Amino acid sequence: MSDVFAQIDALLAQALSDLAAIASPADIEPYRIKYLGQSGMLKASMKLLGQASREQKPALGQRLNAVKEQVTGAFETRKALFAEDVSADRDYVDVTEPGKKLQLGNRHILMKVVDELTDLFARMGFSVAAGPEVEDEFHNFVALNIPESHPARDPNDNFYLAGEAGAGGQRLLRTQTSTVQIRVMQTQKPPIRVVIPGRVYRPDTHDQTHLSMFHQLEALVVDKNVTMVDLKSTIMQFIHGYFGPAAKARFRPSFFPFTEPSAEVDVWFEDRRKWVELGGCGMVHPNVFKACGIDPEIYSGWAFGFGIERIAMRKYAIDDIRHFVENDIRFLRQF
Ligand code: DAH
Repeated sequence: MSDVFAQIDALLAQALSDLAAIASPADIEPYRIKYLGQSGMLKASMKLLGQASREQKPALGQRLNAVKEQVTGAFETRKALFAEDVSADRDYVDVTEPGKKLQLGNRHILMKVVDELTDLFARMGFSVAAGPEVEDEFHNFVALNIPESHPARDPNDNFYLAGEAGAGGQRLLRTQTSTVQIRVMQTQKPPIRVVIPGRVYRPDTHDQTHLSMFHQLEALVVDKNVTMVDLKSTIMQFIHGYFGPAAKARFRPSFFPFTEPSAEVDVWFEDRRKWVELGGCGMVHPNVFKACGIDPEIYSGWAFGFGIERIAMRKYAIDDIRHFVENDIRFLRQF
């Protein structure tokens, strides 16, 4: 007879350990059916009473009832715990939970800088012009007073395109936005006051301050009685307007075939404690005017071409020009 009690103990132990193993609400009902249902194991164990002698029946009955109560009680408790933990239910929505932030893309920092620059120059009365990135020798060199023999035309310093030369000579990726000065003067009559943001290409080795594709901001002013004073004061107005009134800049005499006189403009990078060249400027050369059908006896003008990446690096304290093209999301997200 004692093995009947042992069977009941084993059943209880198994029922409790199965209960403890329930991991999801989906397991609750199968458990109930297996142990507590109409044809469940507890019900089946009642058959043991039939095998017991008359004297043993009361004790065995009591034991069976106690086990049934214990399993039922433990089961109800376990079930209630799941009911409280509503988040385990797949259809549950907590309307008080803070919303998930969507990962929105944003404009590339360089394009933002282009917008800031064209806005600033728009306030100084400049309109925006554009021209093609695939150019010809006429616009990239000839009209800009850069003769055939000039080292700037060396195939090693330019991306010439394969194929037949057209009316404007060999085609190439423009090395400077100065090409658009020519296109503007060919199509517009003075007074002219334009800025030209755009991409330029040079076969340079990439390093901290050089890329083979970068951006320039070109400016061109053509009118009667335009002087070097206008050039210098406009550039200083831009530098103080964009970098702040304390920004320091300097002009160094230089040479460009398309301007005379010419200068280079440096800005002081406080974080690096050194001067960094922004680009060149000068008074438009009479030969450039002539190439575009503008009379240099009547009109004068000035121009500049600055590196936009360098401007952005000075403005936002960016230490390496390669960041602009590496597409590192940690860099891009900062702006
Ligand atoms: N095009 C020159 C360069 O890429 C920069 C430059 C110098 C532009 C003088 C100008 C200028 O408009 O007047 O190095």
